[in-house]
Amino acid sequence: MKLSGKTALITGSSEGIGEAVAVRFAEEGADVVVTYRSHPQEAARVVDTIKARGRRSVAVEADVGRAGLADGLIERAVRELGPLDILVNNAGIEKRAPFVEVAESDYDAVLDVNLKGAFFVTQAFVRHLMETKRPGKVINMSSVHEELPFPHFAPYCLSKGALKMMTRTLAIELAPLGIQVNGIAPGAIATPINTKLLQDHEKLDALLSQIPLHRLGQPSDIAGVAAFLASADADYLTGTTIFADGGLLWNYSEQ
Ligand SMILES: NC(=O)c1ccc[n+]([C@@H]2O[C@H](COP(=O)([O-])OP(=O)(O)OC[C@H]3O[C@@H](n4cnc5c(N)ncnc54)[C@H](O)[C@@H]3O)[C@@H](O)[C@H]2O)c1
Repeated sequence: MKLSGKTALITGSSEGIGEAVAVRFAEEGADVVVTYRSHPQEAARVVDTIKARGRRSVAVEADVGRAGLADGLIERAVRELGPLDILVNNAGIEKRAPFVEVAESDYDAVLDVNLKGAFFVTQAFVRHLMETKRPGKVINMSSVHEELPFPHFAPYCLSKGALKMMTRTLAIELAPLGIQVNGIAPGAIATPINTKLLQDHEKLDALLSQIPLHRLGQPSDIAGVAAFLASADADYLTGTTIFADGGLLWNYSEQ
């Protein structure tokens, strides 16, 4: 087991990729703080799954878009499960709109959760590591859209592009503290964030034709990468992003 004796906090882990990461970490021996914004029953289900694997777990309500709550989230997590070793900034949202119609409120919502949330939860986590004089690992759930333009999703692309630079910058600044910061860039993964796409067969087929491995990713595909990055196997990685996208990003062929 790669994560025995470790304690991890995963934001937005009541469903989707966050849930898969939480359960996989538990299977690798970690205790896990599950955080949720608005689905306590789902979070409780994830906690039960983790406990059934013999690990400790607790669900903590946290809207990461409200930066002022970040210190409280980390304090509560530490009070419940003890010192933390691993943070996964997974919570994320997207809102579709042509650029000329993007409402300020939607722009703020996306940037607040995807970028500002990750920034200030990481800040609170790093303060905790400094106070307890311990090393740690931060994993930012980015997207292929930290590189790949996505028309009609400009705020989402901005948030992930900035998250990439947060990963690189903090990796350098925090290296002297023994804190590694890396990112994961999933391609198209079958989760609730893609509910509309999953129901639209025409769009889904068009997307699959762009993916060299010719399938959507599953949350477990991303959880395995997260478990690697959280483990000692990745001790010499920092400031990098692992793309887990079935080949989508670099797909090019001449027909
Ligand atoms: N599914 C994909 O195709 C895909 C691709 C690339 C990147 N990602 C990224 O992976 C991450 C997880 O996405 P997912 O596909 O599992 O989506 P999802 O919608 O299933 O899960 C997102 C999670 O974030 C939580 N969340 C949303 N707003 C929050 C807030 N204000 N505070 C706290 N939690 C909040 C939700 O409750 C949910 O648990 C996101 O950062 C997303 O951008 C997903």
